[in-house]
Amino acid sequence: MSRVPIRLRLTATFALAMAVVFALAGFLLYQHLATSLDRTLAQSLRARAADISALVKQADTGLHESQPAAGDVGAFAQVLDTRGRIFDQARGLVRRPLLTQSQLLQARRGPLLIGRAHPTGKSVRLLAVPVIAQGRQLVVVVGASLESRDDALATLRNELLVGAPAALLLTSLIGYLIAASALRPVERMRTRAAAISASRLSERLPVAPSRDEVSRLGETLNEMLGRLETGLERERSFVADASHELRTPLAHLQAEVELALESSRDKDELEAALRSVADETDRLSQLAADLLLLARVDNGILPIRRDHVELHDLLDGVAARFERRAHEAGRTIDVVGSGGAFLDRLRIEQALGNLVENALRYGAGTVGLTASQQGDELELQVTDEGSGFPPEFARHAFERFSRAEPSRSGGGAGLGLAIVAAVATAHGGSATVTSAPGGGGRVSIRVPSSTLGTRTSDARVLVSPP
Ligand SMILES: Nc1ncnc2c1ncn2[C@@H]1O[C@H](COP(=O)(O)OP(=O)(O)OP(=O)(O)O)[C@@H](O)[C@H]1O
Ligand SMILES: [Mg+2]
Repeated sequence: MSRVPIRLRLTATFALAMAVVFALAGFLLYQHLATSLDRTLAQSLRARAADISALVKQADTGLHESQPAAGDVGAFAQVLDTRGRIFDQARGLVRRPLLTQSQLLQARRGPLLIGRAHPTGKSVRLLAVPVIAQGRQLVVVVGASLESRDDALATLRNELLVGAPAALLLTSLIGYLIAASALRPVERMRTRAAAISASRLSERLPVAPSRDEVSRLGETLNEMLGRLETGLERERSFVADASHELRTPLAHLQAEVELALESSRDKDELEAALRSVADETDRLSQLAADLLLLARVDNGILPIRRDHVELHDLLDGVAARFERRAHEAGRTIDVVGSGGAFLDRLRIEQALGNLVENALRYGAGTVGLTASQQGDELELQVTDEGSGFPPEFARHAFERFSRAEPSRSGGGAGLGLAIVAAVATAHGGSATVTSAPGGGGRVSIRVPSSTLGTRTSDARVLVSPP
């Protein structure tokens, strides 16, 4: 049954329901007509029996002289004595008792209605009532032909037998057309959906202007297509940007190796070339690690292993990593912060490392590395005294591969801040870029304190891509 098209299944179910309704309605109509015809017949039989009983009581035995009543009632009128002999009867009636002996016996005790009898070969309904006249008991029998009643019922039955199947056919056809027209938009959507491929994700399903379930389904599917398109576009540009970023260090590597292979190279030049190769390899492996982390974020999960972390210890560790570089650049890193928190130490160190690296690379002056409690949140902040983030760039700072000055040489791939945002989100917090009061760069990571007291080691925190 599930292989049969929905419109046929709907039509079949509808037709079945209609057949039951028609059969029930026809049966009730037939019963109603039969009952009302029987009631009318019984009323006229009772009236006629009462008339004749009155005549018999007045000792007027002129039944044979009286005119038959209108219609068939009265044609059958007979007065029998207790032994079943005909006492009197209407004109034109065959001289034979209308009742059998047993019926007569019953009729002497009280009124007796005989639904169908065939005293003269025709179907008649008889009513027999006892009557006492001139000191003797008699039975008055009146009858009426059932011909017109049977005719009326037969006509109705025939009409129902022809009309109901025709009406059923018509309603089923209408039902089929309604089901087919309701499902037509679904078929149109299916045809279009079958034609949509990854290379044509910008196409949408046709949605009828009506506000019914089918159009809502179409809209929902179109929204889903929109999300898929955005996701696919993101992925494509990520792959394109990633390969672009990988090309530069690879080209440098290739150039250095080719230079090193030149036979005229002396030992010092070879050593310098190898050092440069090592630097580029470092850069490549860092880039690969960053891309891997962001790919995991795209898959929806960035594992977070929280542990108790001494904040001062954490900040000191990060500062120590950059101390030599800062010293070489004639700059200092100031650490302010105390207390403890439950954080994924490695991830937070990575995020803060990215920020200090940026402050050293793009900023100027002292680099501030602070941890402070702000209401319900722990705020980790990295500041510098450089020119800060250009306002129009601040909005895109956390996007992947975004750089304020893409052409500036010596810059990175533009993934550092994206990783900071991913780490903050994985901790249930957020990252923001603002300008420090003196005009320098300032990046803050805010993590809710409510999660700080609970140890959730090895918890897998869902991360939505920033
Ligand atoms: N402290 C800062 N002051 C001024 N500009 C900054 C600062 N930090 C970051 N930026 C700007 O933001 C951009 C994005 O930084 P991000 O750390 O995401 O990428 P990157 O440093 O270029 O590359 P990566 O970190 O992947 O090596 C930088 O290219 C730089 O233009
Ligand atoms: Mg960076």
